[in-house]
Amino acid sequence: MAFPAPFLDELAARNPIEDVVGGYVALTRRGSNLFGLCPFHNEKTPSFSVAPDKQMYYCFGCGKGGGVVNFIMEAENLSYPDAVRFLAQRAGMEVPEDDAHREDYRRRERLYALCREAARYFHAMLNSPAGGPGRAYAAQRGLSQSCITRFGLGFAPEGWNGLRDAMRARGYDEQDLLDAGLAVRSPQKNNVYDKFRNRLMFPIIDVRGNVIGFGGRVMGQGEPKYLNSPETEIFSKRRNLFALNIAKKTKRDYLILTEGYMDAITLHQYGFDCAVASLGTSLTEQHANLLGKYTRQLILTYDGDSAGQNASQRAIRLLEKTNIQVRVLRMTGAKDPDEYLHKFGAERFAKLLEGAENQVAYRLQSLQSRFDLGQDDQRVAFARAAADLVASLPGAVEREVYGARAAEAAGMSAAGLMTEVERLRRQKLRQEKRQQEKVDLAPMSRRQPKIRGMHYEDEKSAQAEEQLLAQVMREPGLFDRIDLGEEEFSAPLLGRAYAALRSCWQQGRQPGMAALEAAFSPEELSHLTAVLARWDQTVDDRAVQDCVDVIRGRWQARNVNVESSDDNMQYRKDIMQYRKYLQEKKGLGG
Ligand code: UTP
Ligand code: MN
Repeated sequence: MAFPAPFLDELAARNPIEDVVGGYVALTRRGSNLFGLCPFHNEKTPSFSVAPDKQMYYCFGCGKGGGVVNFIMEAENLSYPDAVRFLAQRAGMEVPEDDAHREDYRRRERLYALCREAARYFHAMLNSPAGGPGRAYAAQRGLSQSCITRFGLGFAPEGWNGLRDAMRARGYDEQDLLDAGLAVRSPQKNNVYDKFRNRLMFPIIDVRGNVIGFGGRVMGQGEPKYLNSPETEIFSKRRNLFALNIAKKTKRDYLILTEGYMDAITLHQYGFDCAVASLGTSLTEQHANLLGKYTRQLILTYDGDSAGQNASQRAIRLLEKTNIQVRVLRMTGAKDPDEYLHKFGAERFAKLLEGAENQVAYRLQSLQSRFDLGQDDQRVAFARAAADLVASLPGAVEREVYGARAAEAAGMSAAGLMTEVERLRRQKLRQEKRQQEKVDLAPMSRRQPKIRGMHYEDEKSAQAEEQLLAQVMREPGLFDRIDLGEEEFSAPLLGRAYAALRSCWQQGRQPGMAALEAAFSPEELSHLTAVLARWDQTVDDRAVQDCVDVIRGRWQARNVNVESSDDNMQYRKDIMQYRKYLQEKKGLGG
């Protein structure tokens, strides 16, 4: 445990969960809880709840749940300790770090500082006499001076040691440079030299404004075209997007996602201050979640080639899982936004944006391109697939519009296609209903933890354990009256939670989410909050005693089973006989 308990309690007290979550989700009060649209999955009716009294959130839709620290971990993409630091900063509190964590934290702070210094150095180089080639290349690419400044572009000069020596003079050593991904060790000569040489430098800055890495473009021809920082302690390609630190402040209600650094920068230069770029990787789930924090609408501008098309399809599927509406921009006459803007200007690009297809149209379009509609059998196959796509749309208006469009492409009547769509919808609805009935008929199986490798072995006991756990959270005084041991629980997770809360109580702390969050994984927390949300009613002492009796009874039953193995039986018999013998002897003697 990294942070002292009293600190965590104060942290929770000074960051009321309804305030913190309220900064991300519009919440409405209903009874003692607040409800809103879940930020972690796509939904139209609110199933995301916040319970201020329990200091927890729980989504009845996707099953995610936890306390305020866990919420920040999810919402800001942070580790547990960093989420704690984030909330401490929010509440203006000092973080008492233990040695190992302080060391970790210092290390990262040092790497951030080094990367910032390096960015300053590259930027200064671009404006120095040695920066001539860099300035010429920037000019050739049409980069304006103000854009160069806004993005902090720089130049890594020719030579092997420019950055290394400059950073050494500022107190950083070779290990620092290696850890920041700015230097490379040569295995032959066993020395350390600059990774980036003779390149135009693009600093990569995270959403909190830290320089975390670089991309360096070769000037003219050469391989690789872009050299990027390796993954480091502070830099992860999968979690960061280029220019999001600037684009997150845009007044527009959409973001534009491009494939290249230059595309994003040129878009900004032409007034589209909502452009970001992925970092030479395909879009990840973490990217999608990150984008979801800043926008509800994303415009994809991937290349028109087949690789770009596939990337678009993949990205759409990922983004659909979040609350983001996707549109796809099609460009003709230029291979990417950078080239397009320089060729045709901002106004024409704005027109393109207006016409950008939404994802349904785009998917219909790409579906269509897979069939040869000149042939009857292919037209039938296309109509089937299109009807399936249209049937999956939630809105009746949408189904009308895209149904008509698909029918036109297939060369058939709209009514004909819509008949097929309605048939498929009825089929889907029936399937969903059957699924739901299955769930309703098996309430206990629904309570089974969704954690892999975990299963309630003894459902009767688990139900009592759940109820008891929820009750002691509300009324921790019960710990003084109940003498259950952790080992008596049939579900280890519930037993551990019970023990954690009890030790909290014994230390004079309020048992609550703060204690659980520090000790359980996000998955485990989701299950525990599900339990707490499920057992929401306060129960009387009798019911509590019933729970205890059930748990103990089941435990004893399980243990008798163990002891009734042959060896045990023989041992017991032997003892009984020996006792009898002693008693008889005593009786005889007395
Ligand atoms: P592209 O090859 O499409 O180039 O790479 P571009 O963005 O149009 O670059 P310019 O206009 O020629 O300068 C798209 C992105 O893929 C990553 C970079 O992030 C780049 O912006 N990439 C590309 C690399 O990381 N390394 C490479 O060698 C090439
Ligand atoms: Mn380009």
